[in-house]
Amino acid sequence: MNLIVKKNYIEMSTTAARTVADFIINNPGSLLCFCAGDTPYGMFEQLIEMQKKGLLDLNSVYYVGLDEWVGVGEETTGSCVQVMNDHFYLPANIKPERKLIFNGLNNPQDECKKIADYIKRHGGIGLTVLGIGMNGHIGFNEPGTDISELCGVVALDDVTKSVLPKYFGRQLPLTQGVTVSTKALSEAKQIILIASGEKKAAIIKKIIGSKNRDIPASLLAHLEKTCLIVDRSAYI
Ligand code: GLP
Repeated sequence: MNLIVKKNYIEMSTTAARTVADFIINNPGSLLCFCAGDTPYGMFEQLIEMQKKGLLDLNSVYYVGLDEWVGVGEETTGSCVQVMNDHFYLPANIKPERKLIFNGLNNPQDECKKIADYIKRHGGIGLTVLGIGMNGHIGFNEPGTDISELCGVVALDDVTKSVLPKYFGRQLPLTQGVTVSTKALSEAKQIILIASGEKKAAIIKKIIGSKNRDIPASLLAHLEKTCLIVDRSAYI
């Protein structure tokens, strides 16, 4: 693991954005997998800014969705697709043929097959940028889950259900998620984990100090190719 501790959220985002930009410039045509959630907003803004300045072409690579809540689609504010559309795909002008994402309104097994086939067709994931859940989940790889395929359907953990209103502005009776698996993510050429803020400090400490399936992020964090970028408030 390469641990980078930055002064604040903006610097964390800048470091992540520069790493992603270098990868895109050096690996055109490869497949990228970005997390939704709040953490990557700053990184997305900076990537879009770099594109506006002509420093990189975000349509020179492909994108695959990381995860989705089963039962919601792009019409629902708070769904992963809505977050990604509004904060990245639309402002970055990503062409429809450059991306494939989960549809939480379709049959979850079919969606997993669709995304797994896309990952296979692209020869695996080149770069992934991943946020970390309060319980150490990655995408919807919840504590203790072990998906043997590239994608899977997962029962949402109680901690994830309790964090759900942060995204949707209300409690929703969602019980499952679809996600790219830890296995598929661990096979990416480059892995970036990002975390910001005091609320993530306890789980970051656990991730750095241990490696086990109860903290899915720890399985990725301890790989040699992984870069864990946090800000000072998330690092105690
Ligand atoms: C959410 C999503 C993940 C996200 C993580 C952290 O539940 N399933 O894709 O990366 O938890 O989210 P945030 O960045 O909002 O803390």
